[in-house]
Amino acid sequence: MKALLVNGSPHKNGCTHTALDIVAGELREAGIEADEFWIGTKPIAGCIGCYKCGEQGECVFKDDKVTEFLAIAGDYDGYVFGAPVFYSGMAGSMKAFMDRVFFSNQGRVTFALKPAAVVTSARRAGTTATLEQLEKFLQHQQMIQVNSFYWPMVHGSKAEDVLRDEEGTQIMQVLGRNLAFTMKCIEAGRAAGVALPEPPDPRVWTNFVR
Ligand SMILES: Cc1cc2nc3c(=O)[nH]c(=O)nc-3n(C[C@H](O)[C@H](O)[C@H](O)COP(=O)(O)O)c2cc1C
Repeated sequence: MKALLVNGSPHKNGCTHTALDIVAGELREAGIEADEFWIGTKPIAGCIGCYKCGEQGECVFKDDKVTEFLAIAGDYDGYVFGAPVFYSGMAGSMKAFMDRVFFSNQGRVTFALKPAAVVTSARRAGTTATLEQLEKFLQHQQMIQVNSFYWPMVHGSKAEDVLRDEEGTQIMQVLGRNLAFTMKCIEAGRAAGVALPEPPDPRVWTNFVR
């Protein structure tokens, strides 16, 4: 089994990475492969709402981290999405990344009923608002949200600060263990013949305009 951890910070080895790395360590300890996917520092266009992905099955913007992520995401059984707090919300490039990953995916990668967690990092404030933003994607995709004993946040300006945030690091350890447990439960259920529920047919889609 494999988990993919998305580092939505412009800092490859910053605070968000440090938090994710603790989660990854626990996953590996539990025998689960864990890979980090860094969204990098190159521009990631926001969704322009052209709806071309619905016609073509892929985003009109093809050469960025969104394409790269969607090309590999289907190989994973669990996910963690991490973002630093910028002005009390998730960092802009990560918001653009998340919008386009989930909107342009168009069913190519199955996220539904796969376990996922969210993580954030801040110097001081805006963590719960950022977690709520990240959670929205999991909820919309029917993912199974895995939690820790407290909201999954760490505090710091530099990676070293995160390692001194003793409660934050423990929250990440527990998150990693809980994700590993959930992934194993799902795997065991599948091996025992538990089938995925059938999706509704037809899917109802209303926009409240007559
Ligand atoms: C543009 C910008 C805006 C920020 N806004 C906030 C904020 O609203 N609240 C906060 O606590 N920290 C804020 N920070 C600090 C980062 O969230 C914090 O240092 C975080 O841990 C960095 O994670 P990283 O090393 O993974 O990038 C901001 C940093 C930048 C660059």
